[in-house]
Amino acid sequence: MRWHYEEIDYQHIDKARVARQDFLFYLITSASFIEITSDVYEKNLATFYQDNPKVVEWLQKVWEPEELQHGKALKKYVQTVWSDFDWEGAYERFRKEYLPHCTLDEFQPTKAKEMLARMVVETGTSTFYRAVERFSQELNEPILAQIAHNISKDEIYHYDKFYEAYEYYNATEKLGKNEIVKVIYERLKMVDGEDARIAYKAIYETLHDTPFEDRYYEEHKKGVSKFAKKYYPYNMAIKMLLKPLNLNKTVEKASVPIIRGALKVLGI
Ligand SMILES: [Fe+2]
Ligand SMILES: [Fe+2]
Repeated sequence: MRWHYEEIDYQHIDKARVARQDFLFYLITSASFIEITSDVYEKNLATFYQDNPKVVEWLQKVWEPEELQHGKALKKYVQTVWSDFDWEGAYERFRKEYLPHCTLDEFQPTKAKEMLARMVVETGTSTFYRAVERFSQELNEPILAQIAHNISKDEIYHYDKFYEAYEYYNATEKLGKNEIVKVIYERLKMVDGEDARIAYKAIYETLHDTPFEDRYYEEHKKGVSKFAKKYYPYNMAIKMLLKPLNLNKTVEKASVPIIRGALKVLGI
């Protein structure tokens, strides 16, 4: 591993200042839940790619431990800053409602296509943490900026490894550009998926005695849009999404405003 969360200086966080950031609390806690549940994904992916021992070994020995470390690092951040929050209890709620959604049925129909979907997910995470890093820098919170920076780099590395595997499978599958665009677009639409909503709901229910209503999450999403507008690295996302299309530079340049528009339509 390129970094170890045990070496992060959590004790030097300016807790009093960060603790007031309600939006950040929901954002980081949700991310910690989703990351720490990567064990389930690893098992599903290992089953799907069982014909390929190299991929399975990497998923088990590198990908899963790194994703779990993301979860642990964020969990420790939440428990340091918002120490009254019952992280374990909220996570229990999240896991119970979320696990039935994590099945092989959610996978793409072919191995190259699923690798494309994984690349979209890693694009989403690497750019999300880059945005968190920028936000933290502006907040003058270097510890969270450092954690987000480390995680973002790991996610880019995951993207590269999935890209390698995609190329391997696509040498046989030979997906056309239209098929590639379709998989990317369909997976992008799921970025704002059930996981984030279930995480928000679990946190809300842990904090309040009143029942959760969807309008609370809709309100939170407005905050996410504002956050994205200010901090989201759109160009980085577009570059990563376009890579499997192997476009020449002129076409790539011409596609940028179109993709940017599509991302906005999708609320990203
Ligand atoms: Fe991660
Ligand atoms: Fe990742």
